[in-house]
Parts: sequence; structure tokens; C-alpha cells
Amino acid sequence: MSRIAYVNGQYLPFREAKVHVEDRGYQFADAVYEVCEVRDGRLIDQRRHLQRLQRSLSELRIRPPISWGALDVVLHEVVARNRIRYGIVYLQISRGVARRDHAFPPVSVEPSLVVTARPLNRTRNEALAASGIAVVTVPDNRWGRVDIKTTSLLPNVLARQAAVEQGARDAWFVDDAGAVTEASSANAWIVTASGAVVTRPADHAILRGITRMVLLDVIKAQALTFEERSFTVKEAYAAREAFITSASQIVLPVVRIDGRPIGDGRPGPLATALRREFHKFAEAS
Ligand code: PDD
Repeated sequence: MSRIAYVNGQYLPFREAKVHVEDRGYQFADAVYEVCEVRDGRLIDQRRHLQRLQRSLSELRIRPPISWGALDVVLHEVVARNRIRYGIVYLQISRGVARRDHAFPPVSVEPSLVVTARPLNRTRNEALAASGIAVVTVPDNRWGRVDIKTTSLLPNVLARQAAVEQGARDAWFVDDAGAVTEASSANAWIVTASGAVVTRPADHAILRGITRMVLLDVIKAQALTFEERSFTVKEAYAAREAFITSASQIVLPVVRIDGRPIGDGRPGPLATALRREFHKFAEAS
């Protein structure tokens, strides 16, 4: 079956799905995006993802290209037309097409909207969660507003590539104080030796993950000890467990950081239980 993408009002075969060479997303990364998990053909936590999208747009003063109701229809239509049961749906909105100039274009310029979807391999993802992943740490050299979900991801790209080149799956960014900020496309967590679940507060230095937000509900319901605070790389090395969270991976155990085994070097029981419980707390639409 051929893939279908939505581009500015049209559902197109992938081959024909194109944006203009002077799209500001292409030239300046002047664009925001969202990724939702699709599970059993339904969108997971779409409401919260669209709330965050609304915030990203308003922080950058990009106007929504279509109504929220229409966007809801497009997202579900792209999932349906691509017959996705398990996978992700991706949406991107740029400030639109205009002659290259750093300042905003005239208000008459329409923002561009692209929506794509693709299946993920559930068996492979479950196997990855069962084995856990290795991460390496890299200096966080991103801009000061990574709480806005922009497509400006070059430091994330370079961090992930550095991880791959060192035989790891992902990278954890570390700030100037030696504290972990987040992973290249996920939030970072540890479980301390005393059993407290720790993750960094969602300020401007990390993306406020939707998976993170829902997991806080799971943690509360299970009455786990939770500390929302920074943690250092040293503390992470000594942690009992570590894991990352994102829409595409939900809760993914981390079993090595910079080559050092975390806990006994296998996925921890808390991370595994949180992964299992997650969808009881997430919204499906
Ligand atoms: N990444 N931090 C960063 C830098 C991210 O890019 C993401 C998501 C997250 C987790 O957010 P959420 O739980 O809402 O997915 C945290 C998506 C999945 C991506 O770029 O593909």
C-alpha cells in the first residue's frame, strides 16, 4: 500500500508530497511539530499534544493554519488512509513560504501544514524495552527555549549521531552544572538507590513531554516517591534504574550510561511496571 501525506489541504501520494524551496521551515527551521503515538488505530493523548502545539505556535507567533476541529479530522484521516494500527503520526507547521528574509513575512503568508504517519514495529519496540538501551552523555549546547517544540533539532541530530557512533542508542544532554537535561528526543529519568523516581522540572531547559505528564499521573496513582528536581550524571551512574519517555517509545529502560551498567545492567522493575501501566492512564481518541 502506498503512503499518503497531507500537505496544505491535499492528501497526496508520498512521491508528490512536497513543500516549496522557500518554505521557512526548510530555510530557517521556522516551524513547530508534534508526534503522537498511534495504538490500535487510535491517537494517544492527542488533546494534550494539540495543547502543547497551540503553546508552541503562540510562543513563536505562528497562526494555526486550520481550525483545531479540522486538524483533528486531518490527523485521523492520515492515520486511516495509511492504515496505521501501531505507529506514529507526525505534524509540522511552518511560518509558510516567502522570499528569504529573517524577519517575519507579511501576515498574508499562510503557514504550511504537513501531516504524515508511519507504522512502527511493535515486536521490535517491545524487544528493545525488554533489553533496555545504552546512552552516552553529551554537553547540552541547545538554545534557551527547548520547551518550544521546534524543528530546529541540529544539536539533537548531532547528539544522536554521536551516540550511534559510540554504539549507544541515545544521548543524554548535560548542562553546565553537570545536571542531565533530557535525551535527544525524550525526557530522562532515574530511580535512586532509595527508590525515589526523579526527573527534571519542566522549565525552559527541557521539552515538557506529554508522556512525562501522563507518567506523573501513573506515579501518583501508584503512590511512588517522586522528586521533581535536577540530577547529575554522577547521580545517574549510581542510580538503581534509569529510563526515558517519549510518545514513540513510552517508557524505555536505560541499562548503560557512558558504558557503566545501571543497577544490575538490566531493565528495572519500576520502569517495566510504569511502561506496562502507562496506557491505562493515557487518552485514546
Ligand atoms: N520527541 N524531549 C525531546 C527533546 C523530545 O523531542 C521529545 C519528543 C520529548 C518527549 O515528549 P513527548 O513525551 O511529548 O513525546 C522530550 C518526539 C517523539 C520526536 O521528536 O520524535
